[in-house]
Amino acid sequence: MSWDPFFPSESTRRSFSRRSFLRFGLGTTALSLASAKALNAAVYDSVAGLDRTFLDQESPDGAYWKALRKHYLFEDDLIMMNNGTVGPMPAPVFNTLSSAFRVQCTMPCEVYNTFGARRDEVRAKVARFLGADPGEIVLNRNTTEGMSLVANGLDLERGDEVLLSNMEHMAGISAWALQAKRRGVVVKEVPVGLPPRSVDEVVGAFEAAITPRTKVICISHTVYISGLIAPIKELSEMAHRHGVLVLGDAAHAPGMLNMNLHATGVDFWAASPYKWLGAPCGCGIFYVRKDLQERLWPSIAMSGWDTLPDARRFETLGQRADPLVFALGEAVDFQNTVGKERIQRRIQTLATYLKEGLAEIPGARLHTSMDPYLSSGLTAFSVPGKDPSVIMNYLRERYNIVVRTIGNEARGTRGVRVSTNIFVFQEHVDMLLEGVRHVVTA
Ligand SMILES: Cc1ncc(COP(=O)(O)O)c(C=O)c1O
Repeated sequence: MSWDPFFPSESTRRSFSRRSFLRFGLGTTALSLASAKALNAAVYDSVAGLDRTFLDQESPDGAYWKALRKHYLFEDDLIMMNNGTVGPMPAPVFNTLSSAFRVQCTMPCEVYNTFGARRDEVRAKVARFLGADPGEIVLNRNTTEGMSLVANGLDLERGDEVLLSNMEHMAGISAWALQAKRRGVVVKEVPVGLPPRSVDEVVGAFEAAITPRTKVICISHTVYISGLIAPIKELSEMAHRHGVLVLGDAAHAPGMLNMNLHATGVDFWAASPYKWLGAPCGCGIFYVRKDLQERLWPSIAMSGWDTLPDARRFETLGQRADPLVFALGEAVDFQNTVGKERIQRRIQTLATYLKEGLAEIPGARLHTSMDPYLSSGLTAFSVPGKDPSVIMNYLRERYNIVVRTIGNEARGTRGVRVSTNIFVFQEHVDMLLEGVRHVVTA
């Protein structure tokens, strides 16, 4: 697809007359905004058109997905099968990001005239997308910030206990380690299988570890080491019976899971929409249930921390890079155009295909459950006697496929992790399987 956010085509330029810009007093800034809108509208038209053309070719590697991939900004035919750290961005998100930054640079007054209202529009959009109320959504910087907001913000006392799974990311581990050092909070680790056999196994392990001092369960909703999708709904139901709160680290969830936060019952939930959703790095989502907002102290105070009536009190941080937030709104629009249900189905289909292929490779050990309720787009595996980094490097050199190594030798979790997002094709999975087979037999 050809596009350029800074130099829109002649026809795009002509469609917005100079007179109308001058009438509204917006000049070149408006040109940039309008052209981003026009460029994005063309992408959405094309995506909607794909629905009509390719409806029956959607699966497993139909033309629909091939055409959709063209709207992502990949260079050098990169095959991104790692959605950790930062994932790729669809073109409309980049258009919105760059045009909004241009406004901020060229018409700074727009920042205080319009950016606040636009930010709240995105909040409402994100809330709808995730099944929450706008007043429960904090637009912050990343998962790490959300995890620390909870650890810092709850009134916990010396000897109060927090249960963490043994598969947590440092974002959760560090947040609670700080509270252990500073306030004497006791952090206990609960093992979850690699993979667990059932929902009951996970819920039962946590229930068995609860004591009268337990205040919080902190678990990854999307476990980055093993690809487990934690049964957050069942965990929340169990925890609430014991008066315990649940904090979900959902770094990978937006864009991967078709979910509804209210239906999960989770109390606090932190996510990084620039991994799977295609938003820009630097914008995060934090959910705090309405009836818990009075129990959580803000960690950073700016005007509004004590007067804002809802979750916005947890994002008072002076001036922020609002274009990141507007681009997050665009990422949600892009996902909605494709369809959340279809996205989840596609991700699951590819992951199942990958897992079935891995299961046939002699010696390969799956760290991820085959159960679609306990797994989604992250798949981890190891091959005893083979260094995961050899597999990772071979895949990159031979096929331009990006995966990552993960885990820890001493804990038995070290392996290769593969992400199967919607821009991955079945044929890419075939190439990956061929590469693993090659390394295994070498
Ligand atoms: C499960 C999990 N939690 C937290 C994080 C930290 O995310 P961020 O750096 O976006 O805060 C990551 C990063 O990959 C992760 O995988």
